[in-house]
Amino acid sequence: ALSTLAGAAFAEYPEKPITIVVPFAAGGPTDKVARDLGEALRTKINQVIVIENVGGAGGTLGASKVSKAAPDGYTLLLHHIGMATSPALYRNLPFKTLEDFEYLGLINEVPMTVVGRPTLPANNFAELMKWLEANKGKVNLANAGLGAASHLCGLLFQQSVKIDMTTVPYKGTAPAMNDLLGGQVDIMCDQTTNTSGQIESGKIKAFAVTTTKRLTTPTLAKLPTLDESGMKGFNVSIWHGLYAPKGTPKAALDKINTALKAALKDPEFIKREEALGAVVVTDNRVNGADHKKFVEAEINKWGPVIKAAGQYAD
Ligand code: MLT
Repeated sequence: ALSTLAGAAFAEYPEKPITIVVPFAAGGPTDKVARDLGEALRTKINQVIVIENVGGAGGTLGASKVSKAAPDGYTLLLHHIGMATSPALYRNLPFKTLEDFEYLGLINEVPMTVVGRPTLPANNFAELMKWLEANKGKVNLANAGLGAASHLCGLLFQQSVKIDMTTVPYKGTAPAMNDLLGGQVDIMCDQTTNTSGQIESGKIKAFAVTTTKRLTTPTLAKLPTLDESGMKGFNVSIWHGLYAPKGTPKAALDKINTALKAALKDPEFIKREEALGAVVVTDNRVNGADHKKFVEAEINKWGPVIKAAGQYAD
């Protein structure tokens, strides 16, 4: 009786705007995916989608806020691989990734690029390597904090080149990009959703992509992979998923997941994503249960890598 009551109460869901929390600053790659997805979701779920940016602590502040939000279907989280790396990075993470969220489906996978400030005296990967060697101890690498995709990629990159760099954390890679453009930081590993426009306009240097296959967009196709540039096996692409607080009624979860699946098939959404090098998920990970299994596997994959690097936030 209770479940039918809850079901009945949610028959009208959603009756008011739905907020999607983005745990990084506006204008960055996570925000970009959220706004494009929100636009596609709006017509599928027939409700206004509000994007709320809650930056800080590599995405864990925003994730924590949603883990504690009312489980009523009106506060969701759009987050990325940080959901899988934060458990190893933060000893006192204020939420449990697998227990405190309902899993609503995986959205896309986004390659990353190693980019540099416009004044960096290197115009290809080999020259970047020479410059890094010659400037050991003075290199500033920007990221969006421990738990960010740019942190994970920067960590793996430093391990591969065997050069420790000073990392400069920001509330997202949008503000980080401003400092890269201004020359305040030297290099960054950031998602193509944020870098391909700047690369295309020649405003930043671009050295390589982090996937094992070259990308196909005109701007990014000319970039070598790190794998072919000597970093054998380097393979990082950033997945984004949608989450609700644990306990959100199934009636609401089902409506959101149905709308998500339709949005991921929306030609305009797919066009925008592919134009920036991203790949929209079409396999079973669009289902909540498979999305959760995938995140659990990613926690088990990245945990040892991060622990081996000895990086903890607290
Ligand atoms: C990251 O590095 O995790 C993201 O690029 C942060 C962002 O979306 O700004």
